[in-house]
Amino acid sequence: MSELGHVPWPPEPIRTERLVLREPEARDRTTFAELLASPEVHTYLGGPRPRDVLERELPEVPERWPGSFVVELDGAMIGHILLRRATEHRRPAAVGKADLGYLFLPTAWGHGYAAEACAAALGWFDATLPGEPVVLTTQSANIASTCLAAKLGFSEVERFHAWDAEQWLGMRLPAT
Ligand SMILES: CC(C)(COP(=O)(O)OP(=O)(O)OC[C@H]1O[C@@H](n2cnc3c(N)ncnc32)[C@H](O)[C@@H]1OP(=O)(O)O)[C@@H](O)C(=O)NCCC(=O)NCCS
Repeated sequence: MSELGHVPWPPEPIRTERLVLREPEARDRTTFAELLASPEVHTYLGGPRPRDVLERELPEVPERWPGSFVVELDGAMIGHILLRRATEHRRPAAVGKADLGYLFLPTAWGHGYAAEACAAALGWFDATLPGEPVVLTTQSANIASTCLAAKLGFSEVERFHAWDAEQWLGMRLPAT
């Protein structure tokens, strides 16, 4: 994965009905460590990283790059949305395309926050890089993620085997 490319960054914070999307700040570091160390969050992502290593190694402002959005509810970070470029994807259909990823704290699951935030991030993407499709790879067994992808307008391109599991590759075509 690499960065999206030349996009104006950071945008003004994006406000939805309940949430704010903004670039990461130093005050998010503890929540990033929590997110990356959570076994629950990483059930389908190859396992969590040790908390003490994260505490030591995370930069002062984690994940600060164009297309990286912290999702905030009532002033506190609840999730991270990643829009990157799939420069070296295993599947030819995805190579070079923008790629969506998302991680939310388990306490924030099941309230529609992920759908609300990802729709806003994709709205930003459509306005910034009009006409581009977006791909998404997730384990087929990750039902919450495949349901969210479908809700966001992603359709299955193919399934393939990688990282010891069946993967689902979806694509969202640009609005016409
Ligand atoms: C994937 C993830 C962001 C989904 O979060 P969420 O809180 O369930 O998402 P939402 O509440 O916005 O729900 C989105 C849709 O998926 C549905 N859904 C969520 N979990 C579901 C499940 N287990 N079974 C069926 N539908 C489910 C919701 O009902 C909702 O659809 P609806 O509005 O039509 O009812 C969250 O589970 C997560 O952070 N997981 C860990 C990280 C991860 O695996 N990321 C994927 C790799 S990119």
